[in-house]
Amino acid sequence: MSHGTGQAAAAVGEAHPNIALAKYWGKLAEGPNLPAVPSLSLTLAGMVTRTAVRLEPSLPGDRLTLDGAPAQGRAVQRVSQLLDLVWHGPAGASQRRPAAAVESTNDFPTAAGLASSASAFAALAVAANAALGAERSVEELSSMARQVSASAGRSLFGGFVELPAGKLGDDWLPARPLAPADHWELRLVVAVTAVGPKAVGSTEGMIRTAATSPLYDGWLRWAPESFQQIRQAVLARDLDVLGPAAERSALAMHGVALAADPPLVYWNGATVEVQRAVARLRAAGADAYFTIDAGPHVKIITTADQAEQVAAELAAVTGVHRVIVTRPGGPARLLTEGVDGR
Ligand code: DP6
Repeated sequence: MSHGTGQAAAAVGEAHPNIALAKYWGKLAEGPNLPAVPSLSLTLAGMVTRTAVRLEPSLPGDRLTLDGAPAQGRAVQRVSQLLDLVWHGPAGASQRRPAAAVESTNDFPTAAGLASSASAFAALAVAANAALGAERSVEELSSMARQVSASAGRSLFGGFVELPAGKLGDDWLPARPLAPADHWELRLVVAVTAVGPKAVGSTEGMIRTAATSPLYDGWLRWAPESFQQIRQAVLARDLDVLGPAAERSALAMHGVALAADPPLVYWNGATVEVQRAVARLRAAGADAYFTIDAGPHVKIITTADQAEQVAAELAAVTGVHRVIVTRPGGPARLLTEGVDGR
């Protein structure tokens, strides 16, 4: 392994967010952030996180800037964790890792409250790999990003991506590509229903759910079956099966979270109004199905030819701030030119 600290001292990685059609919710009790259930996601084009890593051996510790503002605490710790994983690798490395200055920007408004940790850590994995000269494979980078945030492991790949459940005693768990972005010309319409960050982050929400929700065992038993059904529907490009199954995966995830103590209520009034609007659209003949992550926004799965109409209808729902139409996107990548303008 070559630790090329004398080579390119800065590198920029780029990655897209992803939305799970089959939800991940819950971790194994032991091990490095191993999901308790399998999940399947769609990587989204049109929204990008760009992350620059510059080695600064003279710094006392890693430095992080998020959308131009200096960050502290947990965010910096997670960045350092991923830099360490990439540097040491599965086999470990004896040399001390140089400190890094990390600058991350989203081209989509963070105020919209859309999940950005998946794209952020996927972009960081790619940039860190180049800046540190670590020469990790994309599978290794996916497994490492997954340790920091499981959904980030999926954003290393484009299109439809699956992340199996972890196995106790096995740290190795990368996501894997199921089908490329052009496999199925779906659209995902994001209905933004609030501004600002969510109340309880996913990590904390999952820990609380596992510890207190009486429905958690049922979720663990049911989620793998639901995942298999969604996986088959994606491979067969069958929206009539995928749509209802994706809705149920999301509702079951929210059901188990709602039953936690104290309850995890990620929805607001508009979250419910959008679900009702989607049901009305369907009753009128449209192919539109919703999914919801650990926040109040609703993402609607539909076809390319119906997306504009669906977006227009949902933009008119009370409490919807804006709608964004997205399509399947590509994998995380290293930007070889225009490195951060320097
Ligand atoms: C509801 O990947 O953010 O979006 O591994 O603790 O960082 P950590 O959790 P994270 O959880 C995502 C949860 C979800 C469903 C999903 O993306 O599968």
